[in-house]
Amino acid sequence: MGKDSQIHSLNISNKDLIGHLETSPESRQKLQQAILGYAEDFLNNLKTDKAYQYNRYEKEEQDSFFDIDEAKYPVAEILPFIAERVDKPGINPASGGHLGYIPGGGIYESALGDYLAAVSNRYAGVFYASPGAVRMENALIHWTGKLMGYTGNFGGNLTSGGSIANLIAISTAREAKNIKGKDLESTVIYTSQQTHHSLQKAIKLCGLGECVLRIIALDDDYRIIPEKLNAQIQKDKAEGLQPFLVIANAGSTDVGAVDPLNEIASIAQAHQVWLHVDAAYGGFFQLTAEGKKVLTGIEKADSVILDPHKGLFLPYGSGIVLIKDIAHLAAANSYEANYMQDTKMHQDEMSPAELSPELSKHFRGMRMWLPLKLHGVAPFKACLEEKMELAKYFYSKIKVMGFEVGPEPVLSTVIFRYLPKNTDANEFNAAIVKAIHQDGRIFISSTTLNGQFYMRVAVLSFRTHQREIDLLLEIIKEQVFK
Ligand SMILES: Cc1ncc(COP(=O)(O)O)c(C=O)c1O
Repeated sequence: MGKDSQIHSLNISNKDLIGHLETSPESRQKLQQAILGYAEDFLNNLKTDKAYQYNRYEKEEQDSFFDIDEAKYPVAEILPFIAERVDKPGINPASGGHLGYIPGGGIYESALGDYLAAVSNRYAGVFYASPGAVRMENALIHWTGKLMGYTGNFGGNLTSGGSIANLIAISTAREAKNIKGKDLESTVIYTSQQTHHSLQKAIKLCGLGECVLRIIALDDDYRIIPEKLNAQIQKDKAEGLQPFLVIANAGSTDVGAVDPLNEIASIAQAHQVWLHVDAAYGGFFQLTAEGKKVLTGIEKADSVILDPHKGLFLPYGSGIVLIKDIAHLAAANSYEANYMQDTKMHQDEMSPAELSPELSKHFRGMRMWLPLKLHGVAPFKACLEEKMELAKYFYSKIKVMGFEVGPEPVLSTVIFRYLPKNTDANEFNAAIVKAIHQDGRIFISSTTLNGQFYMRVAVLSFRTHQREIDLLLEIIKEQVFK
């Protein structure tokens, strides 16, 4: 009697609203029709839609439809808003005309992979919770590691992108080399002017900001000069400093430079320094015969990162970190938590949660696995080969048009500028970029090297073909020689 009287009687208000979050087959079908219809229109219009559009809306004009309130709205009202306010202004990363920064495109099958992953909501953090999801992610890491030439007991993690992959790699290097707070001021990190800024962030976030940072000189092709690196390490050692980490590029964002990885790896090995290779952009060119030659030595790195949302053409949200010895990755991310005890009982394979800072995570393996399974690897290779060819084609054409060019592309990036007779070259080239943006059919970005403004083209969207390159050449011709 006493016990019964303590049972809580349910007092649920708004009972009619509770069922709203669960959909019926009919309502799902209606919603799917509307959303898939929208996606179809988006994809079918890509060829004619602009690659870049200025935002027509001033901040004060932003209407309140972005804000969340108590009201509900029909999908027929929501989709036009997304079209106008989200999918139009700014860069269109799905467009084949996107040749700025490092594009990728975003293959459709990945979107469907994300859909499946989200519908099932599989928990890919620990093996026990979803052995299939973890096996799938481990299989992708295994495939990518083998592609890089890794053998033995390597490991890795599927991340949200290259920045987080770099962060995981640097924290692993710090733990593996046992760098403590008291050591920081005598610990040396070697980078170059071409190092991506996400590594500056990673160094800071890993508490390594007080280390000595050496910026190693580059050759005319923006590649680290191995002899300079070696000499600097020797000098630092002689002065009682502790060389810790070398960061090399396998495709720099700026100019697409690939450092001489083989020579750098030998130097790092000889001095027992951790070698990290940022292959966010260049890594998947390893699928091509020519890329393999360019990336020789990558297999010797202690850690490598890649971005499938670049070289595998996935939508944004996909990076990979690989660590040559999985034990270092596990040590850097080890934890104990009583409430996780069940997860240790069924463990055929290591889980992402043991190898990364994340616990609950997006099941991001599906968006990479599904397209690779549906297409096989061959079309990815073919597309990457085409991008290298297109970059060479653009380089030769723009040179003939009288532009000053940077290094011949070893991957798919070209920098170039026009040297006008009577005006400032930096101002002139900046104005050309602005005009290209105003035109909007093709999007390119720019950079500054040694004080000189360069236009840059990075060919990596699977939707970029000769048509887009010829169109860009035409637009440049119109703008420069008008
Ligand atoms: C060479 C390089 N490293 C790292 C990154 C950072 O990757 P993400 O933008 O995926 O975080 C990028 C791209 O932005 C890059 O080009």
